[in-house]
Amino acid sequence: MNYKLIDLPVFEDERGALVPLESMAEVPFEIKRVYFMYNIPTSAERGFHAHKNLQQVVVCLRGACKFILDDGFDKQEITLDRPNFGLYIGNNVWREMKDFSENCIVLVLASDHYFEDDYIRDYNTFRATLNKS
Ligand code: TYD
Repeated sequence: MNYKLIDLPVFEDERGALVPLESMAEVPFEIKRVYFMYNIPTSAERGFHAHKNLQQVVVCLRGACKFILDDGFDKQEITLDRPNFGLYIGNNVWREMKDFSENCIVLVLASDHYFEDDYIRDYNTFRATLNKS
């Protein structure tokens, strides 16, 4: 499946911890967009889409949440529960997010600007797309 777990470097001393994220280094693409989610109800479920071309790296900056990834054949459940752990998600991967902890903050780095045309928001359409490729 088109995803990767990335252990991010932490520079930690008595002043605290720092995690750098650079294009073409820890993040395997040029970062064109950054967004984050907060105030997420613990019962929320988000995502439910795939991307035709977009690549993303997700980091749970505070708290924890679960990602369910699905390439139409296999499913993987990944828990993001530390700020030095990145989840790379490539294109053509259906993702769902759930089990958000209280005060969870999720940061997303993306390889392109926001284009609604890049989204596949219907699971059956997603499956049909795979059969054609
Ligand atoms: P949505 O796709 O529903 O979020 P999720 O995948 O986490 O469930 O996005 C919520 C709203 O935010 C939707 O109206 C589109 C908008 N949005 C932007 O304007 N720019 C962005 O970069 C993103 C990711 C979303």
